[in-house]
Amino acid sequence: MSMFKLCFICSVLSVVFTSASAFMTNGETFRRKLSVEVNPGLNPPSSLPPGVNLVHVRAQGHNDTLHFIFCNQGAPSLLLVHTNSTKSTVHVNWPEFINRTSSGSLKVEPQSSVQYSNALMITRLWEYSDVNNTADPQNTSESRFYPPYELQNFIWSDLNTTVNQSDHRIMICGGDRTVSFINGSFCLQISAYESEGRESSWPSLLHNSNSTQVRMWLDGVTSRGNNSRFMLELQTVGDSEFQGRVDVRSSIDDEYTPSIFKVSQWVSFPVNSSRIWGYTQWKPVAYRKPRPVFEDATPCKHSQPVPIAQPPHSGLIQAYFRGHPQTYGLNISFGIAGDPFYNVTNYLSWTVLMGMGDPPADSFSTLIIIIMAIGLGTPLVLIIVGGVFVWIRKRMSQSTGYEPIN
Ligand SMILES: *[C@@H]1O[C@H](CO)[C@@H](O)[C@H](O)[C@H]1NC(C)=O
Ligand SMILES: *[C@@H]1O[C@H](CO)[C@@H](O)[C@H](O)[C@H]1NC(C)=O
Ligand SMILES: *[C@@H]1O[C@H](CO)[C@@H](O)[C@H](O)[C@H]1NC(C)=O
Ligand SMILES: *[C@@H]1O[C@H](CO)[C@@H](O)[C@H](O)[C@H]1NC(C)=O
Ligand SMILES: *[C@@H]1O[C@H](CO)[C@@H](O)[C@H](O)[C@H]1NC(C)=O
Ligand SMILES: *[C@@H]1O[C@H](CO)[C@@H](O)[C@H](O)[C@H]1NC(C)=O
Ligand SMILES: *[C@@H]1O[C@H](CO)[C@@H](O)[C@H](O)[C@H]1NC(C)=O
Ligand SMILES: *[C@@H]1O[C@H](CO)[C@@H](O)[C@H](O)[C@H]1NC(C)=O
Ligand SMILES: *[C@@H]1O[C@H](CO)[C@@H](O)[C@H](O)[C@H]1NC(C)=O
Ligand SMILES: *[C@@H]1O[C@H](CO)[C@@H](O)[C@H](O)[C@H]1NC(C)=O
Ligand SMILES: *[C@@H]1O[C@H](CO)[C@@H](O)[C@H](O)[C@H]1NC(C)=O
Ligand SMILES: *[C@@H]1O[C@H](CO)[C@@H](O)[C@H](O)[C@H]1NC(C)=O
Repeated sequence: MSMFKLCFICSVLSVVFTSASAFMTNGETFRRKLSVEVNPGLNPPSSLPPGVNLVHVRAQGHNDTLHFIFCNQGAPSLLLVHTNSTKSTVHVNWPEFINRTSSGSLKVEPQSSVQYSNALMITRLWEYSDVNNTADPQNTSESRFYPPYELQNFIWSDLNTTVNQSDHRIMICGGDRTVSFINGSFCLQISAYESEGRESSWPSLLHNSNSTQVRMWLDGVTSRGNNSRFMLELQTVGDSEFQGRVDVRSSIDDEYTPSIFKVSQWVSFPVNSSRIWGYTQWKPVAYRKPRPVFEDATPCKHSQPVPIAQPPHSGLIQAYFRGHPQTYGLNISFGIAGDPFYNVTNYLSWTVLMGMGDPPADSFSTLIIIIMAIGLGTPLVLIIVGGVFVWIRKRMSQSTGYEPIN
């Protein structure tokens, strides 16, 4: 009887916890309507240089629209513009954009609807010789650094202009003209999302309809030394007064990204306010194989953001931002002391999420919640059932065996 009750209570508990978790994770049913266009409004005789494209992802909500614009003229850049209108559009003055003559050749109209603009630029790929195998670029002498690969000078493969409208994903690969890139390339894959979810491939970041994911990988590049490690320089650009900081959050659940219990987020927020405007979020892990197993994970570290006086050339940034936008930069370095060098697999991939509002936060998965419910619930039930049982026995023995004699 008590065993039956116990099982019953356990299953009730797990059902309650499961539905609570399902509510927590799937409660957000918010979807955006996505459409992708490449080089909107570009007609001959205007044309972009080979391999250069501008991709616009329009993500329309109930009463707002997000515009994600990617362009690889100069340093590859991803611009996010949030408007409070469902009718806002992107307008490019192509002759001016191509000539790089003026700022303002790319506009989001009506301009009064723009609430927030921020851009992520991928600017440089640093390589250094880690002879002492410390993987500590910040304490490595400058002389150990090779000249950086400037992404603004890369030659890119032509984008497949038949963008898949149901997939919302684009990919480009490029490299400079040096011998290092003869058999290799640096690639970027950008994915936009209608609603909340995760990619199946690691690090399986949680995304939502207000974010876009950029996966970058370095495949088959010949390193310039036998002890080479790499580092990637990112910059963010914003037009209004904003501040930035990198927060590192911990989790006790590594179900989606094995062995990684942290998430780093570079947030931007207005001066005098703590409300987060936008973010760049990543897990501190890179992978040394295209189809990684557990051993192919390598940790990564970030430096603190610093103001940048002279950002590298980027067609998109110059065309959109007016005057002197604020720019901050930081480096992400791959590997820790003792990890294999790049030459062992000749591959490295890293993934970042860019978006607006509060960064997505992992909640406990249903599996973990069921385990917790059973793990915590069972002893509790046992204690209660045991207590009741003891109490009943006491009562019964009191009422039968040991009645006080008058
Ligand atoms: C936009 O819609 C959201 C809910 O979808 C609501 O919370 C918000 O107040 C609306 N904003 C405006 C300006 O109507
Ligand atoms: C663009 O530049 C070319 C030469 O640099 C010039 O001939 C052309 O008139 C310019 N076009 C515009 C729209 O400024
Ligand atoms: C959009 O924002 C602007 C200010 O940024 C405001 O003047 C306008 O009323 C807003 N429009 C809607 C529809 O909320
Ligand atoms: C490597 O270690 C040696 C001995 O500890 C030290 O003298 C040298 O400066 C180190 N080299 C680098 C590049 O850090
Ligand atoms: C472009 O995409 C289409 C359909 O996805 C594919 O058939 C074609 O091979 C691709 N072209 C290139 C150059 O990748
Ligand atoms: C577009 O993407 C969807 C989902 O990934 C896929 O099923 C479909 O085959 C793709 N279409 C083309 C033309 O590549
Ligand atoms: C590129 O690959 C070819 C053929 O595999 C090889 O002969 C050549 O040495 C490689 N070049 C570099 C720079 O690795
Ligand atoms: C996405 O942005 C919209 C508009 O600001 C907001 O209503 C919604 O809650 C956001 N979704 C998430 C998951 O942050
Ligand atoms: C790298 O290692 C290989 C094999 O160990 C060796 O032949 C080569 O000379 C080394 N190259 C450099 C630049 O040290
Ligand atoms: C990579 O570099 C290490 C360290 O110098 C060297 O021992 C090894 O032979 C190199 N591996 C390959 C595949 O070149
Ligand atoms: C921030 O607050 C300080 C003091 O309260 C004020 O002087 C400054 O103008 C404010 N800055 C902005 C951008 O609102
Ligand atoms: C990245 O690291 C390199 C090499 O140490 C340094 O020159 C550069 O200033 C760093 N960039 C940022 C944004 O900190």
